[in-house]
Amino acid sequence: KDRPRVLSGIQPTSGSFHLGNYLGAVRQWVDLQEANDAFYMVVDLHAITVDQDPETLRQNTRISAAQLLGAGLDPERCTLFIQSHVPEHAQLGWIMNCLTGFGEAARMTQFKDKSAKQGSDRTSVGLFTYPILQIADILLYQADAVPVGEDQRQHLELTRDLAERFNTRYAPTFTVPNPYILKETAKILDLQDPSAKMSKSASSPKGLVNLLDEPKVSAKKFKSAVTDTDTVVSYDEEKKAGVSNLLRIHSALSGQSIEKLVEHFEGKMYGALKTELAELFTEWVTPFQARTRTYLEDPAELDRVLAIGAEKARAVASETLATVYDRIGF
Ligand code: ADP
Ligand code: NA
Repeated sequence: KDRPRVLSGIQPTSGSFHLGNYLGAVRQWVDLQEANDAFYMVVDLHAITVDQDPETLRQNTRISAAQLLGAGLDPERCTLFIQSHVPEHAQLGWIMNCLTGFGEAARMTQFKDKSAKQGSDRTSVGLFTYPILQIADILLYQADAVPVGEDQRQHLELTRDLAERFNTRYAPTFTVPNPYILKETAKILDLQDPSAKMSKSASSPKGLVNLLDEPKVSAKKFKSAVTDTDTVVSYDEEKKAGVSNLLRIHSALSGQSIEKLVEHFEGKMYGALKTELAELFTEWVTPFQARTRTYLEDPAELDRVLAIGAEKARAVASETLATVYDRIGF
């Protein structure tokens, strides 16, 4: 390996990504593909831990892949694939299930949160063991670093424990990965409720910026974003959460520092910031949508790109799995 290996995945549960998905995750994947040997996947195996309509799942998986390409993932620079195209994920997942203690898995707070919302009869065993499939996802590729949000830190710790456990019990086999916690400042808030993060499941339609919506629709959402009763544009995450969120989005899209922006908006009011942000977003999202559309309108080309990705991924995954099978006595 000449460059650090990174691996990350995104669920295909929503047709359109939202601005939080892009600025919080996907955009950083695009940056990381340059200096790293990056593996990125659409995790459809994880999606079925909750009920999915088959045709919707198939569509959303393709739309997710097309958006990743539209956002700037370059199949020449990274390996982009669909998780279910690489059967080694499920195969190593089973082995990792058998190495994980029940109590250890039961301590995962993400599961406790998610299952509490569903009730135990509607919660699948798959949802319980999904962190263990995640472990397989990571270890298959001998990833050095895993770019994830803070909420995934506990799962990364379990991944490290399991890698070390396997290496100790059998023989050195897996790279023990490090979390690469994505910057907290990349957290994008709901435009209507700046006390909450922008989220597909929790945000109101007006608070959520979908990347595949008509740019005009999103521009309107920026213009009616909830701020506060003050008028001075300044950065204060506590007292001016709404304005600070808009400044962060502006900074991420324009590449200008927050300090520069605060200077730029001196003597101007919130309306000026919102109008500029609406324009900036439209400028970015228009070519993003055009690139995404080229893949959606040419299914054969999307299939071709994803088949190459799956083949590159399998080359690595099958080698790891063969070693693992040998070590455990298969
Ligand atoms: P959602 O919360 O809308 O269901 P996911 O949980 O599917 O989104 O998140 C996919 C990726 O996008 C994760 O890496 C997550 O950290 C990131 N992400 C989601 N929402 C935000 C947000 N509001 N700000 C920054 N990053 C986010
Ligand atoms: Na979520």
